[in-house]
Amino acid sequence: MNTSLIIAIHSPQGGSGKSTLALNLALQYVKQGRKTLLIDMAGYGGVPAMCKIPIRGNGMSSLITVLEQSSELPHYEHFQGYFKDAIVQYKEFKDFHILLSASPLKMEKLSSQFTEYLIEAARKADYGVIIIDTSSELSERNITCMEIANLIIMPTLQDVASGWKIILLKEILSSLHISKEKIFLVANRVTKYSGFNNKELEEEIGFTLLYEIPDIAKKVQKHINSGIPMDLAGIGKVSRIFQQLAQKIVAQVI
Ligand SMILES: Nc1ncnc2c1ncn2[C@@H]1O[C@H](COP(=O)(O)OP(=O)(O)OP(=O)(O)O)[C@@H](O)[C@H]1O
Ligand SMILES: [Mg+2]
Repeated sequence: MNTSLIIAIHSPQGGSGKSTLALNLALQYVKQGRKTLLIDMAGYGGVPAMCKIPIRGNGMSSLITVLEQSSELPHYEHFQGYFKDAIVQYKEFKDFHILLSASPLKMEKLSSQFTEYLIEAARKADYGVIIIDTSSELSERNITCMEIANLIIMPTLQDVASGWKIILLKEILSSLHISKEKIFLVANRVTKYSGFNNKELEEEIGFTLLYEIPDIAKKVQKHINSGIPMDLAGIGKVSRIFQQLAQKIVAQVI
């Protein structure tokens, strides 16, 4: 079945909230009853720590090994068994699966062709939503994720360095013919003290600013440090932030 909504979370700014958005949005879609896969493409990504999943040397590593060792790309039916073994189910949510990243060095082996193959294998595994957490650099792997995704969600911080990197990235994505219509900014860690105007950034760049997430570190940092995702921290206001964002994202699809 080829009906999955694929959302890539990418930003040129490290620490801007890519993994946070990826995980908490995934939880929202699961709570809405959609079978959801979170693909951690980040190498050094925050997902395992944020959900307290031990890295046991499985995840994507075994899949990359299979792809490397095959003289040609395997048939998807043959690959599905490896794929199922590589994913982990998130705690009590039976419809929330995570494909953990391999080590940063192993992730270097994920060429554009392998990345495309992996995402297609995920699509064939019958998920309603596939969310891809990427790293900040503009690698072949990250570009492929953005090309394939229906939507690209781009968290940005309220500072000039973050904004400047997005302006540079905009030029590159345009030269790669990645449509700006599918790219949406999410201003993250918003405070009234930054003196930074997100609306001006939106006008300058021409990507729609979909949402502004306040800085909620005071409310959630201790939960995050104990491996509880923001959305599950039991604070209604925080959960509503991700609920609204998840709805706004889905509304962009049709
Ligand atoms: N709205 C927010 N309020 C408070 N803290 C936040 C918010 N969003 C993210 N954080 C915190 O900021 C830090 C960086 O977030 P995160 O790891 O999601 O960024 P990232 O873009 O994935 O980073 P990297 O580039 O290293 O992969 C984390 O400690 C996270 O808990
Ligand atoms: Mg991350």
